[in-house]
Amino acid sequence: MTTYRIATIPGDGVGPEVVAAARRVVDAAGTRFGFAVEWTEIVAGGAAIDAYGVAIRPEDVEACRASDAVLLGAVGGPKWDDPSAAVRPEQALFALRGGLGLFANLRPVKVHPALVASSPLRPELLEGVDLLIVRELTGGVYFGERQEASAEPGDRQALDTVPYSEAEIRRVVSLAIGLALTRRKRLTSVDKANVLATSRLWRAVVRELALRAPDVEVSHQLVDSCAMLLVKRPASFDVIVTENMFGDILSDEASVLAGSLGLLPSASLGERQTEHGTFGLYEPIHGSAPHLAGQDRANPIGTILSAAMLAQWSLDRKDVAAAIESAVSHAIDEGWRTADLADPADLDDRPVVVGTTAMATAVIDALEAAVPA
Ligand code: IPM
Ligand code: MG
Repeated sequence: MTTYRIATIPGDGVGPEVVAAARRVVDAAGTRFGFAVEWTEIVAGGAAIDAYGVAIRPEDVEACRASDAVLLGAVGGPKWDDPSAAVRPEQALFALRGGLGLFANLRPVKVHPALVASSPLRPELLEGVDLLIVRELTGGVYFGERQEASAEPGDRQALDTVPYSEAEIRRVVSLAIGLALTRRKRLTSVDKANVLATSRLWRAVVRELALRAPDVEVSHQLVDSCAMLLVKRPASFDVIVTENMFGDILSDEASVLAGSLGLLPSASLGERQTEHGTFGLYEPIHGSAPHLAGQDRANPIGTILSAAMLAQWSLDRKDVAAAIESAVSHAIDEGWRTADLADPADLDDRPVVVGTTAMATAVIDALEAAVPA
């Protein structure tokens, strides 16, 4: 029997609860599909600041590197929120993304028909929404040189810089073109080429790569106009590729389409291949939601779907990924809802509002019903 090695980073807030829920789903899939998982747990984020004084220890980044994949809950919380603190939970994310070379962040957004009412957008706008944001993750302003405000109040200045090399652009855009080829073959490259030098380089590199991919319809869009079109006609997008900061902002905007931030998964990938697949880090796109922590109320679906992406990319188990995705879909169809998705207007349709653990159980039941022992 194959044993996969998955490192988990439960993190802070609701992180431990949603990771535990996703682990149960993966273990249940293992029983059905005949694989085992050797789980290890790594402390990062605020929890690591409390335990070790740093957001993640170098040896723990190495332990992640030595596994087949990493499943992360969320990091951060009010306790560690002092903006002037030298040590911050988010530093764990940057150490993992940068240190492990995870340059491409995939954020798929689909709208489940039964959840259309959970989105603030009109139902007719949501029909057919199935888009994938590919965000560059290890360059740009996140990793550029910066200078914190110095001087005295009244005369303060600060500086952030946005470096991008051709090679950094090429690798993420090439990946996005490859993904578009497996989908509806449309790629929207998003930049701010009317202002930024890095965006003009970005656009030039995309143009060159597009020439070599005649089967993909490539278009360029300015980020402000893309932000508008994402709510005006979201179904027109297939794959969107963009730089780090624009991708951060647009992916939060796009998440509104699905009805709840709690539903959406992400994968951060690099080039490195393990024995089983592409090494990657998988996490829901929601944060640590400290106000829900420890109450069994968080929606585990974003993390469960992240585990499905893990199976697809890092374990090369498309069968397992598909089974988890369809089990989630079934659980939603059956009416199971966490509080973030409960629609008061829906009460006639018998939605059952449950907590984190029961939602994971509903997914496991659906998976076990669909995949014979
Ligand atoms: C994300 C988050 C992070 C980011 C924060 C927590 C630093 O918003 O993963 O999108 O900006 O990358
Ligand atoms: Mg973000």
